[in-house]
Order: sequence, then structure tokens, then C-alpha cells
Amino acid sequence: MAKIVNPGPLELAADEAARLLALATDLVLRHAEEVPDSPVAPVEPYRDDIREWLADYDFRAPRPAEETLPEVMDTLRRWGVHTTHPRYFGLFNPTPTWWGVAGELLAAGVNPQLAAYSHAPAAVEIERHVLRFLAERLGLPSASEASFTVGGAEANLTAVLVALTRRFARFTEYGLAGVPGWPVFYTSAESHLAWLKIAHLTGLGREAVRLVPVDDRHQLDPVRLRELYNKDLAAGRTPFLLIGTAGTTGGGIIDPLPELARLAQEWGLHFHVDAAWAGAVALSDRLRPLLAGVATADSVTVDAHKWLSAPMGAGIFFTRHHGALAETFHVSTTFMPDTEGVADPYTTSVQWSRRFAGLKVFLAMAAVGEAGFAAQVERDVELGELLAHRLAETGWWQINHTPLPVVCVIDPEADETGVEHSRRWHTAVAEHVVRSGQGWIASLDLGGRPALRLCVTSYRTQPHDIDQVVAVLDKARGAVNALFKHQSRS
Ligand SMILES: Cc1ncc(COP(=O)(O)O)c(C=O)c1O
Repeated sequence: MAKIVNPGPLELAADEAARLLALATDLVLRHAEEVPDSPVAPVEPYRDDIREWLADYDFRAPRPAEETLPEVMDTLRRWGVHTTHPRYFGLFNPTPTWWGVAGELLAAGVNPQLAAYSHAPAAVEIERHVLRFLAERLGLPSASEASFTVGGAEANLTAVLVALTRRFARFTEYGLAGVPGWPVFYTSAESHLAWLKIAHLTGLGREAVRLVPVDDRHQLDPVRLRELYNKDLAAGRTPFLLIGTAGTTGGGIIDPLPELARLAQEWGLHFHVDAAWAGAVALSDRLRPLLAGVATADSVTVDAHKWLSAPMGAGIFFTRHHGALAETFHVSTTFMPDTEGVADPYTTSVQWSRRFAGLKVFLAMAAVGEAGFAAQVERDVELGELLAHRLAETGWWQINHTPLPVVCVIDPEADETGVEHSRRWHTAVAEHVVRSGQGWIASLDLGGRPALRLCVTSYRTQPHDIDQVVAVLDKARGAVNALFKHQSRS
């Protein structure tokens, strides 16, 4: 028998491990310090350069981590959009809290296995504690259940699976073959289109997603919903689920949740609220009324890695129906350890082995408290109002009306030039801002109208960042106008 090498090649002496982690900490801290003065997005061309750098890593000979870590950090810094930048007015990607970052380290170091309760009773209980607290803030009953997911898309997938399982007795064993008609569900045309992938994944097919047109406030239109619903019934389809979005990805719009809840009840549909982003306002007494109706939902999605500023990988699915998760995800094996009287997480969620996602939320919640989170979301809302005000002062027209800090604006002149031209114009302005390195904003179509979208998403954002991005936007408008004029002359 070959001699066993001792220690094994993956071992690292305690002092070396300490140096490695200290280096990683140092790099992350330096990044945080330098990022506000760095470009928000890469200003250099990148794909070839990144691949050229990677070519040095053929993994044949080991390389010292003291060299690799700084190189990786440098690469990430040069060639990535910095969602932690105070002028990242982007998608719902937060600057993670330091407590969250510390939680990631502890979770990775201890690496509890959250599949089986008996493997990680402390970790499972910590998660359940946080989930119970959040469920209560959402107004859900105390018997509610919840589960951490990778993100909002997985939480929404869970909603569809739970809805199918609860509604159709034979779905669990026979899938769609056990379901009469063709199950369809309703969500606004402005909702997050992971719903299409979810319909595909669950075998419903993408056509099963009935994208309900929105009204002129970009909210799901209940009149159009009723028309679609009646049409589906007449065609022999089987509606089973209605979704309201609390904070659409484009315009931050909150659907008329109480009315949707009422319709779902009238029609016997599962009512799900996708509050992936705006669910965070449940922590503020002042803003919680915006979520009116959520407390009656059959299920709710909230992403802690959006407005609760947890590092990525912390979605949450809630349901008021005790036992619904076990009914949907139950499975039993002889190789998994059992705990009498306790549901093992792998039998109540999509995932099996799972990372300890809840720790980063727990640590931040413990450190800042509910009042701290409330103050943060309220501050972001005020910054959003300031942003809307400054944009209006400089001639932009806001086309989304929401109390939340997402501002979608158009240039009125460009808007009049027809959709195609206006889209090119607004896209060019967004690109100009991003290329400047001074801010990150998006272009989008809101209700079919090309516009620019700015969202206050980093807790580091301050009023002077608002002034700066508005100034950059003004410059970009001038530059794009000049370019378009020049192009139309030549
Ligand atoms: C309203 C809404 N729902 C769901 C999602 C998907 O969440 P995730 O990207 O965490 O999977 C998003 C993402 O932005 C979203 O805005």
C-alpha cells in the first residue's frame, strides 16, 4: 500500500490560514475604501484581457495564494460593475452590510449542513428565528412556514410548486398528467420574468404565464385580469395562481394587492406576493402600510439580498399554510439522519445540501435591530425623493409613480421622436453615464416606453452622490444630443 502523505495537500497550518484570512480581509477592506473613488463600471475593454490573465492559471503547478488573492481582487476591481459603489443606481443589488460579510465567513468556515436538522440544529434554529420574526413583520400568522432560498427566482419557483401541490391533489404523484385542463397563472406584464423560466421548469410551459396588461400607473389592471381569467375558463384552462408584485423590477410599482387578494379568494386561486425587493419596508412602521394586502397572501417572496442588504444568496419563501412545504418537498431516505418530530430542511425546500444563508441576515438584524433597518429604508425613500426632485429640476420627466426609491425618467423631446429612436437615444444616454465611470444607471422600456431607470440601492449613497449622478446625466444628454444631431446631418 502507498504511504499516506501526512498532512494531506488541502491542509494549511493555523498560522498560514490566519495569514490567508487576514490578507482576504485586508483586500476586502481596501476595496471598500477605494471603491467610491473608482469607476463604477469597467472603463477598459475586458473579455480578452480577462481570458489572457486566466490563461496563466493552467492549474498544473500550484501558485501561492498570497499572489493569487491580490490578483483576483485586482481583476474583480478592474472588470466588474461595482454594486457596492455609492453611485450604483442600478438593479436591486445592495452593498452588503459588514455583519453580512462576517456572517458569510463564519458560515463558510463552520460550513453547517442545513439539509438535516440533526446536522445543524443551531443553524436551522437561527434561520427559523429570523424567518419567524420577518413573517410576523409581514403580518403573516404565527403558524406560517418559511425557507431560505438562493434568491427570489427560487422563492417564486417554490410558490408555483406549492400552489400546484395545494390545488391539485394528484399533482404530487402524477405531475401535470394528473391535473385537469391546462393550469395557467396570472402576473403583471411588469413582473419579474423569471416567471417564464419557472413555467418552463415546472412543465407548465411559458404560455401558461398570463402576463396581465398594466394600467397607466403600471399596476396590474384588475379589469384586464378578469377578462383574461374569463377567457381562460371558457377555453377549458385551469387557473390556479394569481401573483401580485410589490415593487416591480422596472418601475418599483406595487400592484393593488388588496384587490388582487379579493379576486384570488373569489376565484379560489393561490395568491402569491412577490415582494422580493419591497418586502423590506415591512420593517418600517411608517412604510409598512404600502404592503397592505400582503398579510392575506397564501405565500410571499422577500429577498434579504435586495433591500435588506445581505450578501447575495439570501432569498426567502413564506407561506401561511402550515405543512404546505412538507407536502410539496417531502422525501425520505435511509441515508439521511432523521430527527423525531422535526422537519428536516431538505424535506421542506427545493435544495438539499444548503448553505447557511440565514446567518448573514441574523447577524445584521442583531447588530442594527429592526429600528436600524427601518431607518435605512426610510432614508433610501427620502434619497429617492431627492433624486426625483433633482431630475425634475433638470428637465427629466418621471414616468413611474411609486413611493419607493426607483425613478424612471424620459427626456420629453427624445420621447416624441418615436419608440425606436427614443430607445436608441435613452440607451445611448445610459451607456454614456456608465462609460463615464461616474455612475451606473439602466435604460429600460416601462410600459413600452423607453426610459432611464435609477434606483437608490446602496446604503452608502449620500445626497452629494445624487447631485453627482444628475450632473453626469445632464452631460450625457448633451453629448448624445450632439452625437445624434451629427449623425442625422451626415
Ligand atoms: C420583483 C423581483 N422578483 C424576483 C426577482 C428575482 O430575484 P433573484 O435575482 O434574487 O433570483 C427579482 C430580481 O430582481 C425581482 O426584482
